[in-house]
Amino acid sequence: MPYPSKVKLVDVGPRDGLQNEKQPVPAQVKIQLVHLLQDAGLREIEVTSFVSPKWVPQMADNAQVMAGVQRKAGVRYSVLTPNMQGFEAALQSRPDEIVVFGAASEAFSQRNINCSIAESIERFAPVVAAARAAGVYVRGAMSCTVGCPYEGDIAPERVGYLAGLMKGIGVQHVGVADTIGVGTPRKVQAAMQATLQHYALDDVSGHFHDTYGQALANTLAALEMGVWQFDASVAGLGGCPYAKGATGNVATEDVVYMLQGMGIDTGVDLDKLIDAGVFISEFLQRKPQSRAALALLNKRSAA
Ligand code: HMG
Ligand code: MG
Repeated sequence: MPYPSKVKLVDVGPRDGLQNEKQPVPAQVKIQLVHLLQDAGLREIEVTSFVSPKWVPQMADNAQVMAGVQRKAGVRYSVLTPNMQGFEAALQSRPDEIVVFGAASEAFSQRNINCSIAESIERFAPVVAAARAAGVYVRGAMSCTVGCPYEGDIAPERVGYLAGLMKGIGVQHVGVADTIGVGTPRKVQAAMQATLQHYALDDVSGHFHDTYGQALANTLAALEMGVWQFDASVAGLGGCPYAKGATGNVATEDVVYMLQGMGIDTGVDLDKLIDAGVFISEFLQRKPQSRAALALLNKRSAA
C-alpha cells in the first residue's frame, strides 16, 4: 500500500500533555498554547477534558479554557467526556468533537475511569447518543492496545473486542492508543488490524506515547497500512496520571519533520509549531522533548 499523500494531525498537547503536569498551568497559558497551535496550522486540537477535578485537578479549568479560545475557521476543538455529567458540562462549551475513552485492559479501565470495560460501554452509550443527536462528532480512545501497566501484553483480539463494542454504540472514529509506549511496529500493526475489522481506514487513528522511543517507528508502521490520522503532542508533552512512568505522546514536531521529509502534506508550519513548543516548554521550565525541534533550534541559534 502506498503511503497516504496527506496526514491529519490532532495536537493533544493541551489535554494529554498538560493533564499530567504537577505544577499549576494557568488557563491563560493553555489558551495561548491553543492559539499558537492553530496559528501553526493544526486543524484539530484536543483542548481539555470534562473529568472529575478530584481525579485530574489540572483539567478543572476546562470551561474557562474553552471559553477563552478564539476559534479559527476550519479548526476543530475536541474534549474528553467520560460520562453524561462530563458531556452535559462539555456541551456548554460547544466542542466540535467529544472523546469517550475506554481501555482494552480491564485493570486500566478500573484505574483510569473506575469501572469495568462493560460498565464503561454502558456509560458511554447515552453520551454517544446525546452527542450525535446534538450534531457533535464522537471519537473513541482505546487505551492499552498493545500493553498495560497492570496486565502486561494485550492481545489484538482484546482490541478488536473493544473496537466492536465502540462501533456497536455508535462511536464514529476510534484511536488506537499505546498508552505506555511499549509497542513496536508489528504489535502496533496487529492492534490496528484488529481495529480495522470493525472500522474503515478513514475512521481510525494512531495515538502513540513515546516512553520507549518507538512512537515515530510506530507511526510509520501505521502509515504503511494507510492510516492517515494521528494524535501527537507539541514538545512531546504528556502522559497519563493512571499510567505511572509513561511519558508524552510522540512530539508533533518530530512527526511533521518526518512527514515533510517524505513529501506528505500536514498543513503545519514547522517553524511556528516549534515556537509553540518553546512557549509551553519555557513555561514548564524544560526543553522541548522533540529531537527535530531541538536540532532546528540549535540551527536557528547558530545562524
Ligand atoms: P467516579 O468516582 O466513579 O464517578 O469517577 P461517580 O459518577 O461515582 O461520581 C463521583 C464524584 O465525581 C461525584 O462528585 C461526581 O459529581 C463527580 P462528589 O459528589 O463526590 O463531589 N464526577 C464528575 N465531576 C466532574 N466531571 C465529571 C464527573 N463525573 C463524576 N465528568 C470518572 C468516574 C470517570 C469521573 C473518574 O474516574 C475520572 O474523572 N477519571 C479521570 C480519568 C482521566 O481523565 N484520565 C486521563 C485521560 S485518559 C488518557 O489520558 C488516555 C488517552 O490519552 C489515550 C491513551 O494514551 O491511552 C485518551
Ligand atoms: Mg494518551
